[in-house]
Formats: sequence, structure tokens, C-alpha cells
Amino acid sequence: MTHTQLSAAASVELVRRHAVQGATLMTILHAIQDEAGYVPDEVVASLAQTLSLSRAEVHGVITYYHHFRSAPPARVTVQLCRAEACRSMGTEALKDHIEGHTGCRFDSGHAEDTELESVYCLGQCALSPSMMINGELHARVTPAKFDRLFAAAQTKVAEVTA
Ligand code: FES
Repeated sequence: MTHTQLSAAASVELVRRHAVQGATLMTILHAIQDEAGYVPDEVVASLAQTLSLSRAEVHGVITYYHHFRSAPPARVTVQLCRAEACRSMGTEALKDHIEGHTGCRFDSGHAEDTELESVYCLGQCALSPSMMINGELHARVTPAKFDRLFAAAQTKVAEVTA
């Protein structure tokens, strides 16, 4: 799924929909990010008011947890597992290949339409090296397999946004 920048009104509506009785800040933030693809800055004031917190408290939680992003994700997001089992099966060589193929660097934000992110275990250690591309899990990834998967993800995004 691709995501675009939300308007302020749409962000406030997001909070209204997810800040149900009994929901914690964390569960609301997860729900917002699941739906919008990121946590827009515009939700901070609304969340603070709804939960009787300061804006600084809400902002602090969003920035403390690496999982939450404050800007829409790239059109193609690659999450490569760089934990031990995958490392022993060549993840670092795969990382170099991916950077060369995409022209992007891991963990440096997103350039153009691609973001490369390191993650540490996807629960597929027996099938390493593992990765996710736009939330889809892939196992035993080789450089050639990555090239095919990446091209397919780019084509899929292009079709959705055409
Ligand atoms: S170490 Fe990579 S999936 Fe577990």
C-alpha cells in the first residue's frame, strides 16, 4: 500500500476514530500508523488533548520508539534482517548488493521512492536470509531473487498509483 501526506482534518479524524475509550497512547499510535502508514505531526495536539497529556509527552513517545515514523513511508520499503542467523547466511553481502542495485543506503531515510531498513529477526531464522518488501515476508533471498522481488514491488506500486 502506498501512503501520501494527510491533511490536518484527516489527521484529526484519525485520532477521533482510534482514540476509543480505554485505548492507550501506544495502541492509538499503532492503529494510526497501521492505517495511515505513519503518525502525522498533526495528530500530536489532538492526541494530547484527548488523552490529557502534554504535546511534549506525545511527541516524546513517537520519537522514542523507532517503529513510529513521522513521514509517509517510501513507495517501496525493504526491511532486511541483519541478525545473527541471517548474517551467517550472507545477509551482509546481500545488503551490499541491495545498496548497489537500488542506489540507496540502509537506515538513512528514504531517497526517491525506496527506503532500506535494517531489522533484527523476522522469525524466519531457519529460512535466512529473510526480508520484507512492503510488508511481505520473503525467505532464502539471493541477490537474483531480490532483484526480481524488487522489480515486482516497483511494478505493483506503479500499477496501484497509475
Ligand atoms: S535472524 Fe533473520 S529471521 Fe531470525
